[in-house]
Amino acid sequence: MANYNQSMDKAGALRDLARRMADNENLPLRESNFVFGEGSPDAKVLFIGEAPGFHEDQQKRPFVGRAGQLLRKMIRGLGWREDQVYITNIVKRRPPENRDPLPEEIEAYKPYLAEQIKIIAPKVIVPLGRFSMNYFLPEAKISRDQGTLFRVRGKLVYPVYHPAAALRSTKVLEALQASFGKLPAILEGKNLVEATGLTKQNTVELPQPKLF
Ligand code: URA
Repeated sequence: MANYNQSMDKAGALRDLARRMADNENLPLRESNFVFGEGSPDAKVLFIGEAPGFHEDQQKRPFVGRAGQLLRKMIRGLGWREDQVYITNIVKRRPPENRDPLPEEIEAYKPYLAEQIKIIAPKVIVPLGRFSMNYFLPEAKISRDQGTLFRVRGKLVYPVYHPAAALRSTKVLEALQASFGKLPAILEGKNLVEATGLTKQNTVELPQPKLF
């Protein structure tokens, strides 16, 4: 696959990917709207959730419901703009009644997420919640590993709690806020060990060749 160095190329490549996904009649959950993701094609930070919910399906935009408003508020709280980062999901259509995505649905969408990541080429990937985290780190446990910085196939992966979980628990919200607060230091590559506890053990070289 080509490397996309210029933002016009990246924007065009993302448009092309979105079109191919929207046209693919074999992708599951065709009864729901297609929610590709949004943000800067040149984003240094890529947030990845699980699947669109009711409001995302209605608006065809990721993370616009209550959990999304929390996510977006926390992004702005870092002094960043929402359009400087990129926000998407593994599964790009809403499962009925907001049920968890099925393993076969995740499998079907995975190659497209890999392509999306390859095009954007972010510096830091922030999986939101366990489904997205387990795409990169199949053995990880969200309560143990959220807020830990991993190096997966040479890329920084920093799982945090899903904002929907933070809406249900003050403890989770506090942990999410604390993890979020370290993102600027991670992005600047400053003092990673001190900022996040990155150690050699957190370096995971996975056998899967097609994560991004
Ligand atoms: N939850 C997700 O995982 N993704 C969204 O887009 C909205 C809620």
